[in-house]
Amino acid sequence: TFVVGENCIKCKYTDCVEVCPVDCFYEGPNFLVIHPDECIDCALCEPECPANAIFSEDEVPEDQQEFIELNAVLADVWDNITEKTDPLPDAEKWDGVKGKLEQLER
Ligand code: SF4
Ligand code: F3S
Repeated sequence: TFVVGENCIKCKYTDCVEVCPVDCFYEGPNFLVIHPDECIDCALCEPECPANAIFSEDEVPEDQQEFIELNAVLADVWDNITEKTDPLPDAEKWDGVKGKLEQLER
């Protein structure tokens, strides 16, 4: 499966949802996640993310391992998103900022 990592938080560009053939992205207030049981590992979303926030599960950086479980948990409670929307207003400012997990809204 593929996993949305920390750099999506407070950016949420949503380019990823446009290309997913199985519509397995789920949306929270300032972050998106991938449903691990629905993702078919096509890898199409990974290069689409302007924030480089998407990883194959086996390539998630060491300091973002908790996002694997976080994607699974939040995908079960958030709503499905299938169409691109505007990024969050300060997306450019937050792109690349470390420690954004504290900013995650549920
Ligand atoms: Fe969707 Fe493919 Fe990305 Fe999985 S890897 S979330 S199926 S676009
Ligand atoms: Fe997030 Fe990147 Fe998609 S910032 S919403 S994973 S395009």
